[in-house]
Order: sequence, then structure tokens, then C-alpha cells
Amino acid sequence: MSQTWWRGAAIYQVYLRSFADGNGDGVGDLAGLRSRLPYLKDLGIDAIWLNPWYPSPMADGGYDVADYRDIEPVFGTLSEAERFVEEAHELGIRVIIDVVPNHSSTESAWFKEALADPAARDRFWFSDEPLNDWQSIFGGSAWTQVPDGQWYLHLFAPEQPDFNWGNPEVHQEFEDVLRFWFDRGVDGVRIDSAALLIKSEEGYEDLDEVHDVYRRWREVADEYGERVLIGEVWLPDQERFARYLRPDELHTAFNFDFLACPWDPAELRRVIDLTLTTHTPIGAPPTWVLSNHDVTRPVTRYGRADTAFAHGGRLHGTPSDLELGHRRARAAALLAMALPGSVYVYQGEELGLPEVEDLPDELRQDPMYARSGGTNPGRDGCRVPLPWSGDEPPFGFGAGTPWLPQPDGWRKLTAEAQRTDLGSMLNLYRTALGLRRDLLGDGTLTWLPTGPEVLAFARDSGLVSVTNLSSGPVPLPPGRLLLSSGPLEDGVLPSDTTAWLARD
Ligand code: GLC
Repeated sequence: MSQTWWRGAAIYQVYLRSFADGNGDGVGDLAGLRSRLPYLKDLGIDAIWLNPWYPSPMADGGYDVADYRDIEPVFGTLSEAERFVEEAHELGIRVIIDVVPNHSSTESAWFKEALADPAARDRFWFSDEPLNDWQSIFGGSAWTQVPDGQWYLHLFAPEQPDFNWGNPEVHQEFEDVLRFWFDRGVDGVRIDSAALLIKSEEGYEDLDEVHDVYRRWREVADEYGERVLIGEVWLPDQERFARYLRPDELHTAFNFDFLACPWDPAELRRVIDLTLTTHTPIGAPPTWVLSNHDVTRPVTRYGRADTAFAHGGRLHGTPSDLELGHRRARAAALLAMALPGSVYVYQGEELGLPEVEDLPDELRQDPMYARSGGTNPGRDGCRVPLPWSGDEPPFGFGAGTPWLPQPDGWRKLTAEAQRTDLGSMLNLYRTALGLRRDLLGDGTLTWLPTGPEVLAFARDSGLVSVTNLSSGPVPLPPGRLLLSSGPLEDGVLPSDTTAWLARD
């Protein structure tokens, strides 16, 4: 791996509630995660990113944080979290946690204090009347009234009051929170809703003062050395995006253009080129992301007529050809892993899980579902607990009934069933991550001449990656075949398939 570990890392995202349940209450936890660390080691990842693990009423899956310096009791204890960090480190796996600086929880000490005492409201956005007509990102008004008549701002759910970053106490608090976790050995933070912190009459997206926050955070991170700051920055404008990655700000940010890109050769090539031209001049490593806990699972998305992802485009009952989606998800995984920079794997991607689209409505927990009046199915379908083993639910997830039901058909997709199947998605990921460790990651690429529907490039190590997005087979360039996402037909690369070749 490269000198600075994050530049080329393979980072596995653990959505703790749904990863593995150690105590049988139906909800994933630290005990479950610790017991599965050998699986992650064997998979070949370099780091784990955990979604928020803090005490939370779970109004938004833990993104409503009640206490930034402790662990949600359903997940475990602070000392267990410390043990987990040590155990991961012993296996050579780094740990990245989620920090949520845009908003808090109505159950946080600061918000409760604010409710009790109108003089203690300056850490949030309180006002005698809504200051604007902003809508919550989850639907409905972004302002909610409290019993004494004042209103407070929440860009997300009403249970998530926004911090006032005009107040120096908020700055101090988060710098302390970073130190709290860095002192406990955490290797980096993923910054939630990173571009939204500052509010003014102009709006809230990407205002210039937000960069002052990250310059300070970078100083804090640099005091510790080798700690990484990763931004969740959804911005259409690449120049604005790149400002977050200046040398004294964040180290990397998620590449949502790639995540949302349709399975289309011209679009993919455009996004890859744009990503490289955005990152190269500032020396920041690109990231390649196909999926996360907020988006439709790739196997389902790539099997639809419209393969792009858009939050607003989530609809009930959009048909998907899952076989086609699976084939493309395999090809996309190898493409993403071959590109220069770091790569993210969202739990279950390595098992080829589809989106669960038929959850009973009464079990849906995502506020996006409720606040859209049920028109948007929300994000529960990509958060269903993982299938580990066995023939029926709970598929080894834990002893209890999982908090969201798993489809019966997942018996074929358990980690156990896939381990012994050489052609499985799990084995594709294991093999690819193993090759990637030595031959890919940080660096540059050189496009190779091909027809417009083929993406072929060579990496610094000599590895060549070829993805065929045309409707028929194409010949492969010279080289020794290392891996392919599907079987070759008489030495030619079928449609929707990626091959990796070595040029010896
Ligand atoms: C981010 C998270 C998402 C959460 C939102 C509000 O986008 O990824 O899950 O709902 O922020 O915190």
C-alpha cells in the first residue's frame, strides 16, 4: 500500500445495526462485529468505516446523535469500542468513524438545555418565526415549533436540530470530539453532510466559511499524524468540490458522481476523466464508491431500464432484471477496484445482495419514507441485516428476529454458501481485493485505444482493466488473464464483463 494509507485503501462500510448481532436482540452490535473481524480480514480490506455508533433515539438510524462521546447501549459500551479498535489494529485493519457536525438530536444535553432555558439556544437555530421557507431534505418544512412558541431549524428530521456554527462553542465542541476519538486510536472520520454546516440568507449549501471549520479540523488531525478526514460532499460543481480537498483541508471525499452514474460507457468515461482532472492537480486521491447505506443496491439498480441513481428517483415497484444487474455489479466492482485511488465496499455488496423492495410498510423505519407520505420507499431496503449462514432467516445474523426481515431467497447469498463457490460474488471480491493490494490503489491510469463502448486502461503496475459495455463480445488486448467478472467466451470478453490482465 502507499505511504499514506488512505490514498489507495479498500474501505469496508459497516452499517452496525445490520452487520452482525452478538446478543440476540435482533440488532447488530459491537460484539457481532468483533466476532466477524476474521471475515473482514479474510476479505482483504484495509479499513472499516462505521456509521454512527453513538447513543441515539434512532430517529435517523443513529444520525441523530445524543452524545458524541459514548456508544449506543444497543451497540455496546465505550470500553467494547476501544477493544474493537485494538482488535482491528491487531489484524492490520484501520477504523474510521462517522462524525455528524451539521445536526444533533433533540435528546442531546445541549438541546434539552435549550428547550428548558431560552437563554441557552444560541448553539442551535432558534427564532420567533421560521426565518425562511426551507424544506427538510427528508420532506416537509425545515422548521418545527417548540411549546413556548419559538421555532428551530432542522435540515433533516425534526429530531435532528441543526447546530449554529456561528457559535464558537460548537467549534470547540467538535474539535474536542475529534480529539476524544483520536485519543482512542480511531484512524479517521467520515464527516456527515460536510458541506451544509454554515447557514445564511444565501442558503446552506457549500458556503465559504465551512472551509474554516475543516482547516481547523485538519490541524487537529495533523497533531495525531496519519488520521484521515473524509467528506460526505454531494456537490454538482467539481471546482467547488475540489475546494474541500485543498492540502490544508480534508484528505478525501466520496465520489458521488461515480456512484450515481448510469451503466453507460460514455457517461462512465466522462465521470472517471472528470474525477481524475479534479483530483490530480490538487494531489488528492480519488475515491470510487458504488453504494452505501443511503442508495439503492447496485444489483437492483443496474438491472433497471434507468441505471442512474437519484434520491428523488426512488419509486416503488420499478422493475429490475436482477440477473443482468448482478452481472453488471460484478463488472462494476472490478472497474471500481481497478481505478486509481481508494475504493469503498458497502456491507453486502460483496455478497451481491439486491435491494429489498417488498418490506412491509409498517416495518419501514427511514424518516424519508414517512416524511414523503410514503411515496418514497426510503433507504431501509439497502439496510436489511446481512445473511451469514444457514437456510432460513435470521441466516446466522444473530439469535433474535432481525430488526428488518430478510428475504427467504437469501439462503443462496449467505457468506457461508458463497465461501465454497468459486464463482460467487464473495470470491470475486476476495480475489480482486487481494490482487488490488499489490497491483492497484493509488497512482495514475493510461487509457488504451478501444471502441467507444469499452473502457480499457493500464495502471502503473502494468495491470490492464477492460470493461465491455457494448451489447456483444469484444477481443481482449494482449496479456495474461488474472481475473474476470464472468466467464470469457473463446478468449473474447462478453458484454457487461470486466477482465484484468497482466502485461508480462
Ligand atoms: C447523511 C447520511 C444519511 C443521513 C443524513 C443526515 O447523508 O449518510 O444516512 O440520513 O446524512 O444525517
